[in-house]
Parts: sequence; C-alpha cells; structure tokens
Amino acid sequence: MQTEAVIIDDISDKKSQNALKKAGQTIRNGGLVVFPTETVYGLGADATSVQAAEKIYKAKGRPSDNPLIIHIHEPALAEKYTYTTPMFYKIADAFMPGPITVIMKAKDIIPKTVTAGLDTVAVRCPLHPVARELIKKAGVPIAAPSANLSGSPSPTCFKYAYADMNERVDMIIDGGDCDIGLESTIVKIEEDESLTLLRPGAVTVEDLNMLCDDIKISDAVLSALKEGQTVLSPGMKYKHYAPKTPFSLLKGSLEKRFEYISSQNGRVAVICYDEEVSSFERIIPTELIFNFGKKDDLQKQAKLLFTLLRDVDKTEADAVFAALPDASGIGMALYNRMIRAAGHRIITLN
Ligand code: TXA
Ligand code: MG
Repeated sequence: MQTEAVIIDDISDKKSQNALKKAGQTIRNGGLVVFPTETVYGLGADATSVQAAEKIYKAKGRPSDNPLIIHIHEPALAEKYTYTTPMFYKIADAFMPGPITVIMKAKDIIPKTVTAGLDTVAVRCPLHPVARELIKKAGVPIAAPSANLSGSPSPTCFKYAYADMNERVDMIIDGGDCDIGLESTIVKIEEDESLTLLRPGAVTVEDLNMLCDDIKISDAVLSALKEGQTVLSPGMKYKHYAPKTPFSLLKGSLEKRFEYISSQNGRVAVICYDEEVSSFERIIPTELIFNFGKKDDLQKQAKLLFTLLRDVDKTEADAVFAALPDASGIGMALYNRMIRAAGHRIITLN
C-alpha cells in the first residue's frame, strides 16, 4: 500500500486544513491514518466500522483479543457510544481533553471487533489539536491503538511511527514529538462508581484521588502476572514496549550499579540519569550511554523512554541496563513501562 506522509505544524493554515480534511475523509471511507496525540502516535480508523477496525489489527499485527480505545473530540460525545455515569463527568471535567482513557459499558453502535468481544469500551478525548481536528473532520469516533507494530515501543515521534507503519496505512501525519511520551492513564468505572487503574499514565493516582478515594490498582500495573492469572486489561498480558536488546533494571545505588555494569562482558549500553553520565563515561563508550534526563525530572524521562529504547536497538549492544525508578506520581507509569520492557528482569544489588 502506498502511504502519504504530510506535515502539520499549525492546524489553522490552509494547507493543514486541506490535509486534515483529506485524512478525515480517508477515515470515513474506511482507511487508516496515523496521527499524533499528546501521549503517543495513534493508528486510527472508523470506530463504528468492523472492516476498518479489522484493518487496524492487521496493520499492527495485533492479537484480536486486545481491544481498541475510541477517540472522541468532545467528552459529551461519549453518551453516543457508552452508558456514561456521574463519575465519567467528574473525570471529564477534571482531565479531558487530556491523557486519560475511561472504560465504561459499551453501546451496540461500537462493533465487537473494536471491544474484542468485551461489553465495555475504552473512551479517550485527546488534547492534541491535530488529533481533535482529525476526529472532528472524520465525523466518526476514531479507534486507535498506539501506532507501533505489536510488541514494540509506542512511537513518540514521526520517525518511529513512519518506520513501523509506512506501506501499512493510507496516511501518516507528522505533528512533531509527543509532549508526554507514555500512553494515557486507563481507568475503569466500576458499578459502584469506584475506579480501577488498569494502566498508569500522566494523570496520576494522586490526581485521581481528588475525585475518588477508592482506587484499586490492577495487579498487572506493578508486578508480573502469575501463570494463568486473569487480567482486566487484555493488553497487560502481552509482552510490550520491549527493545530487541536484552534490557534489565538494576535496583541499587549508583556505586552498586556502576560496579555491576563494569563487571559485565560484551558490548553493554546504559540508560542513566544526567548526573551519572560522567561516571559511566569512564567505563562505557559515549555512543552506548543514553541520557535519561535529570534524576528528578520524571516528565522528561517519560518523554524520552520509548525513543531511547528504540535508539538503543540501533547500537546492536549485547545488553542494556537502567536504574529501577520509584513508582510514585508519574513515576508509576515509568515503572510500569520499564518493568514490562525489561520482561520483569529486575536485579537487586546489595
Ligand atoms: O495514549 C493512548 O492511550 C494511545 C493513544 C494513541 O491514544 N493509545 C493506546 O492504545 O495506547 P493501545 O491500544 O496501545 O492501548 C490500549 C490499552 C490496551 O492495553 C487494551 O487492552 C486496553 O487499553 N483496553 C482497551 N479497551 C479495553 C476495555 N474495554 N477493557 C479493558 N482494557 C481495554
Ligand atoms: Mg499500544
């Protein structure tokens, strides 16, 4: 398939408006369009069409039991596709448009291909102007997973969205780098209006606590699933975000990590904090040192993580190591992505 790539800097100029109109029409006609959001790039199709949704699974190589998020441009549109509750509007007032996805009971208008047979559907109203304008122009909700091949890190810039999706989709919109860099927070509204966190993101548990005291954190968020354990969010059971280079997390002080990494054989890469770069320069060639930003700049780390994991693969290192992050605030999202990218290989150094 021939893929058209277009750059959109400013949605109000005429060229961009025309490109967005064409992209919207492509979605409405059942095609696939890759587009930027504030979290990661999405691979979009008409969420009300079975055939269009099937194309998404095919283009990504995604298992058909892993449901898709539907994207709307105004929170109130959720009424059309789901049975909303007062808790939905509390969340919408506080955090939408923005990096949060809410799971509620689906209405029949959403095909089972999108929900992977579940009776619930995930709804998100993104903040990115290109995403919102595209949804508006399409005139239908857009089903969109992250625009990576299944199993790879989500693309947070045009370059990596293009690398995975060229020739698999009709159009790719280059809207620059994603501000957040990790996928949206996913919460499920339970029947009693309490919340279950299925995937941590930039809207943190602390943020959600302002609306609800009762937040359950799904087991798959902070640990590996046990054999045979059922999972609330199907995506959590798949290997994810993984670089090809074997990736391990080290729990311990800089001294301990330094000692451990020095003792490794082969071509070893490290993802380390800005403050630690000069220490590692003594034992590792510069091209194998990946600067993760300052230790307390979690926002920057969130923005860099998926890109660094892809950059590491280009070095053909034998192994890559990073420090295990703390799991509070947006750190929970980083922790969740990193333990999964590392296939839960955490080495405790005493
Ligand atoms: O930031 C984001 O959310 C990005 C951008 C493109 O919006 N999208 C994204 O989609 O990350 P995806 O498909 O890569 O991740 C969606 C996750 C999957 O783990 C899936 O299993 C889960 O949401 N999910 C979707 N519908 C669900 C449902 N009804 N119940 C439970 N989990 C659901
Ligand atoms: Mg994904």
